[in-house]
Amino acid sequence: MSEKATIEIKGKKYEFPLLVGSENEVAIDIKTLRSDTGGVITLDPGYKNTGSCESSITFLDGEKGILRYRGYSIEELAEKADFLEVAYLLIFGELPTQEQLDKFEADIKENSLVDDDIRKIIDAFPKSAHPMGVLSSLTAALTAFYPRSVDVTSEEAMYKSIVRIMGKFPVLVAWCMRKKQGLPLDYGDDNLGYVENVLKMMFKNPNRDYEQNPVLIDALDKLLILHADHEQNCSASTVRITGSSHAGLFVSLASGISALWGPLHGGANQAVLEMLEAIKEDGGDTKKYMAKAKDKNDPFRLMGFGHRVYKNFDPRARIIKKAADEVLGDLGVEDPILDIAKGLEKEALQDQYFVDRKLYPNVDFYSGIIYRAMGIPVEMFTVMFALGRLPGWIAQWREMRMRKEPIGRPRQLYTGATYREFKTIDKR
Ligand code: CMC
Repeated sequence: MSEKATIEIKGKKYEFPLLVGSENEVAIDIKTLRSDTGGVITLDPGYKNTGSCESSITFLDGEKGILRYRGYSIEELAEKADFLEVAYLLIFGELPTQEQLDKFEADIKENSLVDDDIRKIIDAFPKSAHPMGVLSSLTAALTAFYPRSVDVTSEEAMYKSIVRIMGKFPVLVAWCMRKKQGLPLDYGDDNLGYVENVLKMMFKNPNRDYEQNPVLIDALDKLLILHADHEQNCSASTVRITGSSHAGLFVSLASGISALWGPLHGGANQAVLEMLEAIKEDGGDTKKYMAKAKDKNDPFRLMGFGHRVYKNFDPRARIIKKAADEVLGDLGVEDPILDIAKGLEKEALQDQYFVDRKLYPNVDFYSGIIYRAMGIPVEMFTVMFALGRLPGWIAQWREMRMRKEPIGRPRQLYTGATYREFKTIDKR
C-alpha cells in the first residue's frame, strides 16, 4: 500500500507510511514521528491502539472471534493436535514432522531434571505462599543454575535454553502444588508423554501407583493448547519487553508469570471460581451479582467476562464450555457451580449493560470448573494457565530476539511539577 497517513500539528503536515498486515490490518508507521516533528509523541495508556511489534505468531480478530496460531485455527488445533505439536508450531513456525517432533520431545526429556538444590529454595517458602509467586521465583532462579542460558547469540544456544525450560517447567509446576500439599517432590517419568507426565508428577501419591485417566489427559492437553498463545497480551508483552534488554529467557518468563498472576489477566480463572463459590454460598442469587457488576460505585466485576480484543465472543470460551460439559460428564462429577456459571452467562448475554459493552465470557470463565473437576486446587489454576502459555511466551521472546528488536522503552507525557528550588528540611 503506498497510501500515507497525514498528521497536522500546529498547521504543519507530516506524512507517515501505512503498513498492511497479512490479514489486511492497517497500521500507521510512526517510527519517525519524534524526529520529524521535533519531539511529538503519541499517548495511549493501556496500549489500546498501539502495535508494539510486527509478529507472525498468532492472529486474532476480536470482531469475528477468530484465533489462529501460525495460520491454523484454534478449533482445529484443539481438536486434532497435541500440546507439544502446538508448542513446536508456535515456537518454530511450522507443524513438526514426526521426526522433528520426536527430537523435540527427546531433547525436552533430556533436560527435565531440575537441580536438587532448587528444593532448598522451595523449602524456604511458607506453605501459605501463592504458587504463582513460587513459580515465578523458581523460574528466575533457574538462571543462577544455568548462567550460560542468558547468552543466546547463536540459534543453537537459543534452542538449548528453550528445551531446557520446556523440560524443567512442568517439574516446577508440580513441585509448587506438592509443596503446598506437603507431598514429596518427585521427578517425572520419561516413558510418558508431556501432559501425562505433568499429571503424574502432580498427583502421584507416594504410597500408591498412579493410574492415568485418558479423560484428564485429553482435557488438560486441550486446555493447554487453548492457552498456548494470545499475541501481545499483558504477559507476552512483559516477556518481550524484559527480553528486549537482553535479559535471559528464564527471567523474561519469570516476569511474564508475574504479569499473568493478576486477576485482570490469568489470575481471572482463580477469581472466577472464587466468585462462583461466593454466589453459591450466598444462596445462588446471580441477579444480585449482576447488579453489583453494573454498579459503578462497586469495584466488583463479573470475573471471566470481557476482553480487550474479543468484542463478539472468545472462541476459546466456546470450546472450553463444551469441554466442561464433556469432562464433568465423563468423570461423573456434578458441580452446582457449572449451573451457576451457565445461569450467569445466560443473564449477562441478555443484559443491556453487557450487550452495550460487548462483554462475553472469556477463556477463564469455564476453565476453572474443569480444573476443579480434575482435582486441581484453586490456587493452582493460574499456574496451569502459565504451563499452557509457556510455548507462547517462548515464541514471542524468540521472535523478538530473532528480529533484533530494540530495547522496549516507551515515552511519557510529563505532568508533574516544573523546576522547583530545593529547600532544606528546616525550611519546609
Ligand atoms: N464486569 C463488569 N463490567 C465490565 C467488565 C466486567 N467483567 N469488564 C469490562 N466492564 C465494563 C467497564 O466497567 C467499562 O464500562 P464503562 O465503559 O461504563 O466504563 C467497559 O466495560 C469497558 O471495560 P474496560 O475495563 O475499559 O475494558 P478493557 O479492555 O480495559 O478490560 C478486561 C478488559 C478483560 C481487563 C475487563 O473486561 C475485565 O476486567 N474483565 C474481568 C477480568 C477477566 O475476566 N480477565 C480475563 C481476561 S481473558 C484472559 C486473559 O487475558 O488472561
